[in-house]
Amino acid sequence: MKPKVFVTRRLPDEVMNFLEDHFSLDLNPHDKVLTREELLRSVKGIDGLLCLLTDKIDARVMDAAGGNLKIIANYAVGYNNIDVDAATARGIVVTNTPGVLTDTTADLTMALMLATARRIVEADRFVRQGKFKGWAPLLFLGADMHNKTLGIVGFGRTGYAVAKRAVGFDMQILYYSRHKASPEKESTVKATFVDLETLLREAHFVSIHVPLTPETRYLIGEKELRLMRPDAFLINTSRGEVVDESALADALKKGRIKGAGLDVFEREPEVHPDLLELGNVVLLPHIGSASIETRTKMGIVAANNLLEKLIKGQKAPNTVNPEVYTIAN
Ligand code: NAP
Ligand code: GLV
Ligand code: GLV
Repeated sequence: MKPKVFVTRRLPDEVMNFLEDHFSLDLNPHDKVLTREELLRSVKGIDGLLCLLTDKIDARVMDAAGGNLKIIANYAVGYNNIDVDAATARGIVVTNTPGVLTDTTADLTMALMLATARRIVEADRFVRQGKFKGWAPLLFLGADMHNKTLGIVGFGRTGYAVAKRAVGFDMQILYYSRHKASPEKESTVKATFVDLETLLREAHFVSIHVPLTPETRYLIGEKELRLMRPDAFLINTSRGEVVDESALADALKKGRIKGAGLDVFEREPEVHPDLLELGNVVLLPHIGSASIETRTKMGIVAANNLLEKLIKGQKAPNTVNPEVYTIAN
Protein backbone atom coordinates (compact mmCIF):
# COMPACT_ATOMS: atom_id res chain seq x y z
CA MET A 1 0.00 0.00 0.00
CA LYS A 2 1.24 3.49 -0.86
CA PRO A 3 2.03 5.75 2.12
CA LYS A 4 -0.62 8.40 2.85
CA VAL A 5 0.53 11.95 2.23
CA PHE A 6 -1.44 15.16 2.71
CA VAL A 7 -0.47 18.29 0.71
CA THR A 8 -1.72 21.54 2.23
CA ARG A 9 -1.94 23.44 -1.08
CA ARG A 10 -1.68 22.66 -4.80
CA LEU A 11 1.92 22.85 -6.12
CA PRO A 12 3.13 23.07 -9.75
CA ASP A 13 1.78 20.23 -12.00
CA GLU A 14 5.12 18.44 -12.34
CA VAL A 15 5.29 18.17 -8.55
CA MET A 16 1.68 17.00 -8.19
CA ASN A 17 2.28 14.30 -10.85
CA PHE A 18 5.42 13.10 -9.06
CA LEU A 19 3.55 12.92 -5.76
CA GLU A 20 0.58 11.10 -7.28
CA ASP A 21 2.90 8.48 -8.79
CA HIS A 22 4.34 7.54 -5.41
CA PHE A 23 1.81 8.26 -2.69
CA SER A 24 -1.80 7.87 -1.78
CA LEU A 25 -2.40 11.59 -2.01
CA ASP A 26 -4.85 13.90 -0.35
CA LEU A 27 -4.84 17.59 -1.29
CA ASN A 28 -6.40 20.76 0.05
CA PRO A 29 -8.84 21.34 -2.83
CA HIS A 30 -9.03 25.12 -2.31
CA ASP A 31 -6.41 27.63 -3.37
CA LYS A 32 -6.19 29.15 0.09
CA VAL A 33 -4.50 28.53 3.42
CA LEU A 34 -6.30 25.89 5.49
CA THR A 35 -7.96 27.05 8.69
CA ARG A 36 -6.68 25.52 11.90
CA GLU A 37 -9.73 23.23 12.07
CA GLU A 38 -9.35 22.12 8.44
CA LEU A 39 -5.68 21.35 9.01
CA LEU A 40 -6.37 19.36 12.19
CA ARG A 41 -9.04 17.36 10.38
CA SER A 42 -7.03 16.77 7.20
CA VAL A 43 -3.91 15.29 8.79
CA LYS A 44 -5.71 12.39 10.50
CA GLY A 45 -4.00 9.06 9.81
CA ILE A 46 -1.30 10.36 7.42
CA ASP A 47 2.25 9.01 7.11
CA GLY A 48 3.71 12.20 5.64
CA LEU A 49 2.80 15.89 5.48
CA LEU A 50 3.86 18.29 2.74
CA CYS A 51 3.23 21.78 4.13
CA LEU A 52 3.95 25.43 3.46
CA LEU A 53 5.43 28.27 5.50
CA THR A 54 1.88 29.57 5.97
CA ASP A 55 0.91 26.40 7.90
CA LYS A 56 1.61 26.44 11.62
CA ILE A 57 2.65 22.89 12.46
CA ASP A 58 2.77 22.46 16.23
CA ALA A 59 2.37 19.57 18.67
CA ARG A 60 -1.41 19.67 18.34
CA VAL A 61 -1.26 19.11 14.58
CA MET A 62 1.27 16.30 15.03
CA ASP A 63 -0.93 14.61 17.63
CA ALA A 64 -4.02 15.08 15.46
CA ALA A 65 -2.19 13.15 12.71
CA GLY A 66 -1.83 10.17 15.01
CA GLY A 67 1.03 7.73 15.49
CA ASN A 68 1.77 7.08 11.81
CA LEU A 69 3.19 10.52 10.98
CA LYS A 70 6.87 10.02 10.18
CA ILE A 71 7.86 13.10 8.20
CA ILE A 72 6.91 16.76 7.82
CA ALA A 73 8.33 18.08 4.54
CA ASN A 74 8.23 21.90 4.43
CA TYR A 75 8.01 23.52 0.99
CA ALA A 76 10.49 26.28 1.99
CA VAL A 77 14.02 26.64 3.26
CA GLY A 78 12.85 28.52 6.39
CA TYR A 79 11.05 26.25 8.87
CA ASN A 80 10.13 28.60 11.71
CA ASN A 81 6.50 27.60 11.12
CA ILE A 82 7.23 24.12 12.52
CA ASP A 83 7.80 23.21 16.16
CA VAL A 84 10.90 21.14 15.44
CA ASP A 85 11.45 20.13 19.09
CA ALA A 86 7.91 18.75 19.28
CA ALA A 87 8.56 16.79 16.08
CA THR A 88 11.87 15.40 17.36
CA ALA A 89 10.25 14.36 20.64
CA ARG A 90 7.73 12.36 18.60
CA GLY A 91 10.36 10.80 16.32
CA ILE A 92 9.09 12.82 13.34
CA VAL A 93 11.60 13.91 10.69
CA VAL A 94 11.38 17.56 9.55
CA THR A 95 12.81 18.57 6.16
CA ASN A 96 13.20 21.81 4.19
CA THR A 97 14.22 22.79 0.63
CA PRO A 98 17.64 24.48 0.83
CA GLY A 99 19.82 25.44 -2.12
CA VAL A 100 17.43 25.23 -5.05
CA LEU A 101 15.92 28.63 -4.24
CA THR A 102 19.08 30.50 -3.29
CA ASP A 103 19.80 32.19 -6.62
CA THR A 104 16.16 33.07 -7.28
CA THR A 105 15.91 34.72 -3.86
CA ALA A 106 19.22 36.54 -4.37
CA ASP A 107 17.95 37.82 -7.75
CA LEU A 108 14.85 39.23 -6.07
CA THR A 109 17.00 40.85 -3.39
CA MET A 110 18.95 42.71 -6.11
CA ALA A 111 15.64 43.71 -7.70
CA LEU A 112 14.49 45.21 -4.38
CA MET A 113 17.76 47.08 -3.95
CA LEU A 114 17.49 48.59 -7.41
CA ALA A 115 13.78 49.26 -7.08
CA THR A 116 14.17 51.20 -3.85
CA ALA A 117 17.34 53.08 -4.77
CA ARG A 118 16.15 54.01 -8.27
CA ARG A 119 12.50 54.51 -7.31
CA ILE A 120 11.30 52.09 -10.00
CA VAL A 121 7.81 51.50 -8.60
CA GLU A 122 7.07 55.20 -8.02
CA ALA A 123 8.32 56.02 -11.51
CA ASP A 124 6.20 53.30 -13.13
CA ARG A 125 3.11 54.66 -11.37
CA PHE A 126 3.97 58.15 -12.58
CA VAL A 127 4.06 57.03 -16.21
CA ARG A 128 0.79 55.08 -15.92
CA GLN A 129 -0.89 58.11 -14.39
CA GLY A 130 -0.05 60.09 -17.55
CA LYS A 131 2.30 62.43 -15.68
CA PHE A 132 5.36 61.85 -17.88
CA LYS A 133 5.83 65.10 -19.85
CA GLY A 134 9.35 64.42 -21.09
CA TRP A 135 12.90 63.97 -19.86
CA ALA A 136 13.78 66.31 -17.04
CA PRO A 137 17.05 66.89 -15.19
CA LEU A 138 15.55 66.45 -11.75
CA LEU A 139 12.94 63.80 -12.48
CA PHE A 140 13.02 60.84 -10.03
CA LEU A 141 16.53 61.33 -8.82
CA GLY A 142 17.47 58.27 -6.80
CA ALA A 143 20.66 56.88 -5.35
CA ASP A 144 23.37 54.89 -7.11
CA MET A 145 23.87 51.30 -6.16
CA HIS A 146 27.26 50.79 -7.78
CA ASN A 147 30.36 51.67 -5.74
CA LYS A 148 28.29 51.73 -2.54
CA THR A 149 28.72 49.68 0.62
CA LEU A 150 26.48 46.65 1.06
CA GLY A 151 26.02 45.20 4.54
CA ILE A 152 24.89 41.57 4.54
CA VAL A 153 23.33 40.30 7.76
CA GLY A 154 23.54 36.47 7.72
CA PHE A 155 26.27 35.26 5.35
CA GLY A 156 24.76 31.88 4.47
CA ARG A 157 23.53 30.61 1.12
CA THR A 158 21.41 33.63 0.16
CA GLY A 159 23.68 36.22 1.76
CA TYR A 160 26.65 34.90 -0.19
CA ALA A 161 24.68 34.69 -3.46
CA VAL A 162 23.72 38.36 -2.99
CA ALA A 163 27.38 39.21 -2.37
CA LYS A 164 28.37 37.51 -5.64
CA ARG A 165 25.86 39.64 -7.52
CA ALA A 166 26.99 42.81 -5.70
CA VAL A 167 30.56 42.24 -6.94
CA GLY A 168 29.25 42.98 -10.43
CA PHE A 169 27.99 46.34 -9.14
CA ASP A 170 31.45 47.16 -7.73
CA MET A 171 30.00 47.28 -4.23
CA GLN A 172 32.13 47.06 -1.12
CA ILE A 173 30.86 44.17 0.96
CA LEU A 174 30.63 44.00 4.74
CA TYR A 175 28.97 41.09 6.49
CA TYR A 176 27.84 40.12 9.94
CA SER A 177 26.99 36.50 10.70
CA ARG A 178 27.08 33.99 13.51
CA HIS A 179 30.46 32.71 12.34
CA LYS A 180 33.26 34.26 10.32
CA ALA A 181 33.39 32.71 6.84
CA SER A 182 36.42 30.88 5.44
CA PRO A 183 39.15 33.08 3.91
CA GLU A 184 38.29 31.50 0.50
CA LYS A 185 34.63 32.48 0.73
CA GLU A 186 35.50 35.98 1.94
CA SER A 187 38.09 36.60 -0.76
CA THR A 188 35.87 35.40 -3.64
CA VAL A 189 33.59 38.41 -3.03
CA LYS A 190 36.09 40.57 -1.09
CA ALA A 191 33.80 40.57 1.93
CA THR A 192 34.85 41.89 5.33
CA PHE A 193 33.52 40.44 8.60
CA VAL A 194 32.38 43.20 10.99
CA ASP A 195 30.14 43.47 14.03
CA LEU A 196 26.50 44.38 13.51
CA GLU A 197 26.95 47.93 14.80
CA THR A 198 29.77 48.70 12.35
CA LEU A 199 27.75 47.21 9.49
CA LEU A 200 24.69 49.31 10.34
CA ARG A 201 26.73 52.51 10.68
CA GLU A 202 28.62 52.08 7.40
CA ALA A 203 26.37 50.33 4.88
CA HIS A 204 24.34 52.19 2.25
CA PHE A 205 22.31 49.00 1.76
CA VAL A 206 21.61 46.63 4.64
CA SER A 207 20.26 43.28 3.44
CA ILE A 208 18.88 40.71 5.88
CA HIS A 209 19.48 36.97 5.28
CA VAL A 210 19.27 35.28 8.70
CA PRO A 211 16.67 32.62 9.52
CA LEU A 212 13.97 33.53 12.05
CA THR A 213 15.00 32.07 15.43
CA PRO A 214 14.56 33.26 19.02
CA GLU A 215 17.96 35.00 18.63
CA THR A 216 17.13 36.85 15.41
CA ARG A 217 13.59 38.00 16.28
CA TYR A 218 13.70 41.83 16.24
CA LEU A 219 17.44 41.75 15.45
CA ILE A 220 16.72 45.07 13.72
CA GLY A 221 14.74 47.31 16.08
CA GLU A 222 14.63 51.01 16.86
CA LYS A 223 18.15 51.08 18.31
CA GLU A 224 19.62 49.37 15.24
CA LEU A 225 17.67 51.57 12.81
CA ARG A 226 19.04 54.64 14.59
CA LEU A 227 22.58 53.43 13.88
CA MET A 228 21.92 53.38 10.13
CA ARG A 229 22.89 56.21 7.80
CA PRO A 230 20.14 58.66 6.80
CA ASP A 231 20.86 57.75 3.15
CA ALA A 232 20.68 53.99 3.75
CA PHE A 233 18.19 51.42 2.45
CA LEU A 234 17.02 48.38 4.39
CA ILE A 235 16.21 45.26 2.36
CA ASN A 236 14.50 42.23 3.90
CA THR A 237 13.90 38.99 2.02
CA SER A 238 14.30 36.68 5.06
CA ARG A 239 11.47 36.78 7.62
CA GLY A 240 9.38 39.78 8.68
CA GLU A 241 9.82 39.22 12.41
CA VAL A 242 13.57 39.79 12.15
CA VAL A 243 12.68 43.50 11.84
CA ASP A 244 10.49 45.50 14.24
CA GLU A 245 8.03 46.68 11.60
CA SER A 246 6.56 49.62 13.52
CA ALA A 247 10.05 50.89 14.38
CA LEU A 248 10.89 50.61 10.67
CA ALA A 249 7.74 52.47 9.61
CA ASP A 250 8.61 55.21 12.11
CA ALA A 251 12.21 55.50 10.86
CA LEU A 252 11.00 55.72 7.24
CA LYS A 253 8.31 58.28 8.10
CA LYS A 254 10.77 60.49 9.95
CA GLY A 255 13.42 60.15 7.23
CA ARG A 256 15.93 58.55 9.60
CA ILE A 257 16.70 56.10 6.78
CA LYS A 258 16.12 56.68 3.07
CA GLY A 259 14.02 53.70 2.05
CA ALA A 260 13.21 50.02 2.41
CA GLY A 261 12.48 47.04 0.20
CA LEU A 262 10.45 44.31 1.87
CA ASP A 263 9.40 40.88 0.63
CA VAL A 264 8.32 39.70 4.09
CA PHE A 265 6.29 41.17 6.95
CA GLU A 266 5.98 40.74 10.68
CA ARG A 267 2.33 39.64 10.59
CA GLU A 268 1.95 38.31 7.04
CA PRO A 269 -0.22 38.84 5.09
CA GLU A 270 -0.94 41.96 7.17
CA VAL A 271 1.28 44.94 6.41
CA HIS A 272 1.80 47.81 8.86
CA PRO A 273 -0.66 50.48 7.70
CA ASP A 274 1.97 53.23 7.77
CA LEU A 275 4.13 51.31 5.29
CA LEU A 276 1.24 51.24 2.83
CA GLU A 277 1.15 55.06 2.89
CA LEU A 278 4.86 55.63 2.38
CA GLY A 279 6.43 56.29 -1.03
CA ASN A 280 9.98 55.32 -0.03
CA VAL A 281 9.25 51.64 0.51
CA VAL A 282 8.73 48.83 -1.99
CA LEU A 283 6.40 46.08 -0.78
CA LEU A 284 6.29 42.59 -2.26
CA PRO A 285 3.97 39.67 -1.35
CA HIS A 286 6.69 37.18 -0.26
CA ILE A 287 7.82 36.16 -3.75
CA GLY A 288 11.53 35.57 -3.09
CA SER A 289 11.55 32.07 -4.58
CA ALA A 290 8.64 32.63 -6.98
CA SER A 291 9.98 31.57 -10.37
CA ILE A 292 8.32 28.63 -12.11
CA GLU A 293 11.64 26.80 -12.34
CA THR A 294 12.45 27.22 -8.67
CA ARG A 295 8.98 26.51 -7.28
CA THR A 296 9.03 23.25 -9.29
CA LYS A 297 12.50 22.33 -7.99
CA MET A 298 11.40 23.05 -4.41
CA GLY A 299 8.45 20.71 -4.87
CA ILE A 300 10.64 17.94 -6.22
CA VAL A 301 13.07 18.36 -3.31
CA ALA A 302 10.19 18.17 -0.80
CA ALA A 303 8.65 15.17 -2.59
CA ASN A 304 12.03 13.41 -2.68
CA ASN A 305 12.40 13.86 1.08
CA LEU A 306 9.03 12.11 1.49
CA LEU A 307 10.08 9.39 -0.94
CA GLU A 308 13.41 8.63 0.77
CA LYS A 309 11.83 8.42 4.22
CA LEU A 310 8.47 6.80 3.49
CA ILE A 311 9.23 4.49 0.57
CA LYS A 312 12.96 3.75 0.69
CA GLY A 313 13.16 3.86 4.50
CA GLN A 314 16.25 6.05 4.24
CA LYS A 315 17.25 9.29 5.96
CA ALA A 316 15.57 12.21 4.20
CA PRO A 317 18.34 14.26 2.51
CA ASN A 318 17.26 17.65 3.89
CA THR A 319 16.56 16.70 7.48
CA VAL A 320 16.77 19.69 9.84
CA ASN A 321 16.54 17.55 13.03
CA PRO A 322 19.07 14.75 12.30
CA GLU A 323 19.09 13.83 16.02
CA VAL A 324 15.70 12.22 15.32
CA TYR A 325 17.47 9.27 13.67
CA THR A 326 19.29 8.35 16.87
CA ILE A 327 16.02 8.16 18.79
CA ALA A 328 14.47 4.72 18.37
CA ASN A 329 11.24 4.95 16.39
P1 NAP B 1 21.35 29.75 5.50
O1 NAP B 1 22.19 29.28 4.38
O2 NAP B 1 21.15 28.87 6.68
O3 NAP B 1 21.94 31.17 5.98
C1 NAP B 1 21.55 31.81 7.14
C2 NAP B 1 22.77 32.50 7.72
O4 NAP B 1 22.37 33.24 8.90
C3 NAP B 1 23.86 31.54 8.16
O5 NAP B 1 25.09 32.04 7.71
C4 NAP B 1 23.81 31.60 9.68
O6 NAP B 1 25.05 31.44 10.28
C5 NAP B 1 23.31 33.01 9.92
N1 NAP B 1 22.71 33.14 11.24
C6 NAP B 1 21.85 32.29 11.86
N2 NAP B 1 21.53 32.78 13.08
C7 NAP B 1 22.20 33.93 13.22
C8 NAP B 1 22.29 34.88 14.29
N3 NAP B 1 21.61 34.70 15.41
N4 NAP B 1 23.08 35.95 14.10
C9 NAP B 1 23.76 36.11 12.95
N5 NAP B 1 23.73 35.24 11.92
C10 NAP B 1 22.95 34.17 12.05
O7 NAP B 1 19.88 30.10 5.00
P2 NAP B 1 19.43 30.65 3.55
O8 NAP B 1 19.14 29.53 2.65
O9 NAP B 1 20.38 31.72 3.10
O10 NAP B 1 18.05 31.32 3.97
C11 NAP B 1 18.00 32.32 4.97
C12 NAP B 1 16.57 32.61 5.36
O11 NAP B 1 15.96 33.39 4.34
C13 NAP B 1 15.67 31.38 5.50
O12 NAP B 1 15.73 30.83 6.78
C14 NAP B 1 14.30 31.90 5.16
O13 NAP B 1 13.65 32.30 6.35
C15 NAP B 1 14.58 33.13 4.30
N6 NAP B 1 14.19 32.95 2.87
C16 NAP B 1 13.18 33.70 2.38
C17 NAP B 1 12.83 33.58 1.06
C18 NAP B 1 11.73 34.42 0.48
O14 NAP B 1 10.91 33.91 -0.25
N7 NAP B 1 11.68 35.71 0.76
C19 NAP B 1 13.49 32.67 0.23
C20 NAP B 1 14.54 31.93 0.75
C21 NAP B 1 14.90 32.08 2.10
P3 NAP B 1 25.69 29.96 10.51
O15 NAP B 1 26.02 29.46 9.15
O16 NAP B 1 26.87 30.26 11.33
O17 NAP B 1 24.65 29.16 11.19
C1 GLV C 1 10.69 31.20 1.78
O1 GLV C 1 10.43 32.16 2.43
C2 GLV C 1 11.45 30.10 2.25
O2 GLV C 1 11.84 30.08 3.42
O3 GLV C 1 11.65 29.18 1.43
C1 GLV D 1 19.89 60.06 -21.39
O1 GLV D 1 19.01 59.45 -21.93
C2 GLV D 1 21.11 60.52 -21.98
O2 GLV D 1 21.29 60.30 -23.20
O3 GLV D 1 21.93 61.06 -21.25
